[in-house]
Formats: sequence, structure tokens, C-alpha cells
Amino acid sequence: MRHCPGRLVNRIGTLHRVRVAGIRIDGTVERPTRVRLVVDGAVLEAFAGESVAAALLAGGIRTLRHGPRGGAPRGMFCLMGVCQECVVEIDGRRVESCRIAVREGMEVRLA
Ligand code: FES
Repeated sequence: MRHCPGRLVNRIGTLHRVRVAGIRIDGTVERPTRVRLVVDGAVLEAFAGESVAAALLAGGIRTLRHGPRGGAPRGMFCLMGVCQECVVEIDGRRVESCRIAVREGMEVRLA
């Protein structure tokens, strides 16, 4: 991925919005502190306390990897730590992104 101001561009050139308020409920919701993580070299804003999977979804990132047979896109499924469809590399370790809370400066690599 590469970073463009206000956008996240994945390997196949799809643009993703990185503004935090984009698809979230806004206005009447009090949000915690904003944090910034780095996803494949691009900055993604999130809110402290939310999972990496939630931050990726809010940032428009639904494909985390491709299946070993046929290359079909794979992404989050259960969002509760059961299916392991959301595995990404965080700070050098492969983990389920739905079970890890975001933190400032976190480095995430999509598989
Ligand atoms: S989405 Fe199923 S383990 Fe994370």
C-alpha cells in the first residue's frame, strides 16, 4: 500500500478513505483518543480501544489476504477470535486482528 493524503491505496490500486469519520456513526457519539497505526506503510487513523479489525473495516480495508487456492479475497468473518480469517502481522507477529486493540504507532502488515 502507499499513502496519498487522506487515502490509502492497496496493492491493486483500490483507494480507501482513511478519514476516521467516514463510515462511522458520528455526531452524538463521544470517541476516545485518536491513534494512528501504519498499515502496509500507509497511515490509518483509529480510536483507542477499538480492535485492529474494526479499524481496518472503518478504513475501508476488507481484504486482508488471498486464499491459498484460487486466490479469493479473505477478510474478517466472526470478529470474535474464532475463525482466524482476520490474521495479519502486527509488530512482526501473526495474530487475529479482531482480538488486538489498536495502539499508537502499531505496524500492521496484511498477508
Ligand atoms: S474475524 Fe474471526 S478470528 Fe478474527
